[in-house]
Amino acid sequence: MAKPKNYWERERERRRNASTDRRSQRIAGQDVSKKFHPINRGQTDAWNSDADIVAAISGHGGGKSQLGAYWLLREAKRWPGDTFIVAGPTHNTLEKSSIPKLKAILALHGLPWDYDHNAKIGFRVQQKQYMLPKGGIIYFGSCEKPGSMQGAHARAFWMDETVDTEYYAFETLYGRVAFNEGRGIITSTPYDMGWLYGQIYQPWIAAGRPDAATAKDIFVAQWKSVDNPAFSKSRFEKLRAKLEPWRFRLLYEGEFERPMGLVYDCFTPETWVKPFEIPPEWPRKLGIDFGVVDPTACIWMAQAPDKVWYAYDEYYQSGWMRFADEIESDALSGKHSTQMEMIDEIVARCIAHEEKPRAVYCDDSGKDYIMQAKDKFYETLGTNAVYPAHKKDISSGIQRCYGLVRSGKFRIFNTLKYFRNEVESYSYELDKDTGELAKGAAPKDKNNHLMDAWRYAVVGSPDEAFNSFGYGSLGPNDNFRMPGLS
Ligand SMILES: Nc1ncnc2c1ncn2[C@@H]1O[C@H](COP(=O)(O)OP(=O)(O)OP(=O)(O)O)[C@@H](O)[C@H]1O
Ligand SMILES: [Mg+2]
Repeated sequence: MAKPKNYWERERERRRNASTDRRSQRIAGQDVSKKFHPINRGQTDAWNSDADIVAAISGHGGGKSQLGAYWLLREAKRWPGDTFIVAGPTHNTLEKSSIPKLKAILALHGLPWDYDHNAKIGFRVQQKQYMLPKGGIIYFGSCEKPGSMQGAHARAFWMDETVDTEYYAFETLYGRVAFNEGRGIITSTPYDMGWLYGQIYQPWIAAGRPDAATAKDIFVAQWKSVDNPAFSKSRFEKLRAKLEPWRFRLLYEGEFERPMGLVYDCFTPETWVKPFEIPPEWPRKLGIDFGVVDPTACIWMAQAPDKVWYAYDEYYQSGWMRFADEIESDALSGKHSTQMEMIDEIVARCIAHEEKPRAVYCDDSGKDYIMQAKDKFYETLGTNAVYPAHKKDISSGIQRCYGLVRSGKFRIFNTLKYFRNEVESYSYELDKDTGELAKGAAPKDKNNHLMDAWRYAVVGSPDEAFNSFGYGSLGPNDNFRMPGLS
């Protein structure tokens, strides 16, 4: 056991903490200046990096948003008259966190926040856009509806916090700056091991963690809350003592951790396998979750003779992503043909695999989509086995999927990145007060497109019934067939 501290040791510690706290308060009081002065190594590196995507990942209060706001305005200054985007998980977080930061810096540069009709500068509330001098525009968008962030090409974006966002929100933003070879900054606490981890952090690690001077595509700066001198050291230590270690690492040390409430916490490294050629005789089935504004997601599964299912391909495409370079109204009117195109692509993928799936289980909420899919599969592959999935009870479906993984009867190719993004984020709603997982909690309606497609494929075709039906012939799953579709 540690030796108890004597009076003088305690007193020294108290004074040390008091002095860092006073220093913190001083710095926090003069936090916005006309020019950006980084307060730590992480901010400095992120600020200096020329990489296309800069991810500044730190604990709460580490100084991420401050960096993001200056970064975006620096881009706006570099490219006068151009278009920029600020995105947050919801409009509410934008208003509470990102906008006040921008507002303060703009004010120091003599720019008004309220719209000035004569100068045509300022924030237009209806349009959610800030008009910059020289015709530049900053759009504000919520990642809840990535479609709402579509529009003309942009030069740079700032994504402030990624909690509960989906990968296609990032892809939409990235798509919007692609034409201009523009850049983006992501400033966030690492909430889970979803897309920020899989698509940004891991590729940066795989590239050998290039530093700020050499990173070209992605640069990641990572730091702790307490690396912000304005963050109280004593509070940091109190939090360390109070919180569960994983939660502290995630929230205050800016380290990636698997959060509590993950629906499929059963995935282990063994679940992910290296891709191999699926023997042509293995029976195959597909699960499809339709969407246009939300992505259409499809998963391909094949069953080995030892009854283990292998997920070997995935499709994940939002109609909005496809129309990234067209204006919103066109994307809307293109809704149906877009869905059709996506179905075409799924069928084309089956042709490329040289396969005729035994069953295709679809989301039946869009009846015309399932009709389109049925026609297409019949015309092209000559199969009638396109069924609405059994989806009444989400939780028992989840249990089936969970059980399959736990029992080692489900494996997945480690190349299926969209699935990985979702499975590492798909989580239950936690209790707002305690942060704990409440009994009977439901999964959040986020990051669930491939999760649903997978569940449809699993539930729609109980293993024991699988062999009892072939192409067009019927098994117990008949119950789930939509009347009038065969
Ligand atoms: N470069 C800087 N110079 C001066 N003050 C700074 C700087 N960076 C951050 N700060 C101050 O530190 C505090 C926390 O910064 P900020 O809000 O950017 O952190 P954050 O990581 O976005 O926090 P949260 O997790 O709450 O979103 C703020 O008061 C901010 O003004
Ligand atoms: Mg912030």
